[in-house]
Amino acid sequence: MAPPPHQRALLLFPLIFLLLLLLAPPRADAWGKEGHIMVCKIAEKYLSEKAAAAVQALLPESAGGELSTVCPWADEVRWHYHWSSPLHYANTPQVCNFKYSRDCHNSRGEKGMCVVGAINNYTEQLYSYGQKTSYNLTESLMFLAHFVGDVHQPLHVGYEEDEGGNTIIVHWYRRKTNLHHVWDVSIIDTAIKDFYNRSMDTMVEALKMNLTGGWSDDITHWENCKNKWATCANDYAIESIHYSCNYAYKDVEQDITLGDDYFFTRYPVVEKRLAQAGIRLALILNRIFDGDKADDRLLQVQ
Ligand SMILES: *[C@@H]1O[C@H](CO)[C@@H](O)[C@H](O)[C@H]1NC(C)=O
Ligand SMILES: *[C@@H]1O[C@H](CO)[C@@H](O)[C@H](O)[C@H]1NC(C)=O
Ligand SMILES: *[C@@H]1O[C@H](CO)[C@@H](O)[C@H](O)[C@H]1NC(C)=O
Ligand SMILES: *[C@@H]1O[C@H](CO)[C@@H](O)[C@H](O)[C@H]1NC(C)=O
Repeated sequence: MAPPPHQRALLLFPLIFLLLLLLAPPRADAWGKEGHIMVCKIAEKYLSEKAAAAVQALLPESAGGELSTVCPWADEVRWHYHWSSPLHYANTPQVCNFKYSRDCHNSRGEKGMCVVGAINNYTEQLYSYGQKTSYNLTESLMFLAHFVGDVHQPLHVGYEEDEGGNTIIVHWYRRKTNLHHVWDVSIIDTAIKDFYNRSMDTMVEALKMNLTGGWSDDITHWENCKNKWATCANDYAIESIHYSCNYAYKDVEQDITLGDDYFFTRYPVVEKRLAQAGIRLALILNRIFDGDKADDRLLQVQ
């Protein structure tokens, strides 16, 4: 027999609460949706013809032909593909350098299970494009596009002790949040609101403009890395931990309020990292899908 309505409502409350607990991510990771979309919108513009065609062939129908629509996907499947959760970041033992052999593992100590290992993994899988393969290359592409974004978010290579800033509670202006979230989402949101007329697309256009203007001389430098093996993901992680130490963590303590001073000195770092991630994602995809020509060719804006 069904309980009367008011009792049913009472039963429903704990159930909903439990569901929310189960659904709520224990730690928020990755640039927010907007960060990932912006990285991929920039990358799309720098794909060679061949690479763009391969990307089109691999995208799921739901993407509507745009890479950027699937770039947040890896966050959505994170709790379903539980094993993929540690692939979004890497942690250091509270030091300002990243060492693959020391830092790239999951909580069970399995080697390579971090954002750097994941970028190399999915790059390698995509090299089998056009051949017989047991991998789902649609997923490989969606993972790769996401993780190249993540490795550029400074606090995705942060300290183990505070989970990349997740346990550092701060106020962003008047709103309570944590330091990791400030770098994933808040700085971007505030920039979009204050500088870009509340439009993400306007921000993307501004970043693209800077890539053909003020940053154009830097692009060649962004494309190079010491380690020529597979990808330069290791170097991107090293850059991120440096930005974490010099910008993200700098002068921050528990319960601090972060406002204009922090925002105005940090948003240029966020903008640069979004642009770098876009350029480098295109570079990796061009190398994979346009292999023979890629090595000695500079990126071309189409
Ligand atoms: C590599 O990709 C496969 C397929 O998605 C996955 O099972 C494995 O955990 C990945 N490993 C790393 C280090 O990314
Ligand atoms: C590949 O992965 C996508 C996304 O998870 C899925 O929709 C698709 O059905 C998979 N394809 C195959 C052949 O399993
Ligand atoms: C800002 O966006 C609004 C619509 O959202 C538009 O009407 C306005 O012209 C925009 N302003 C500028 C300076 O682009
Ligand atoms: C982008 O370019 C504009 C105009 O040149 C400049 O004012 C701005 O500082 C640049 N942004 C970054 C993050 O370099």
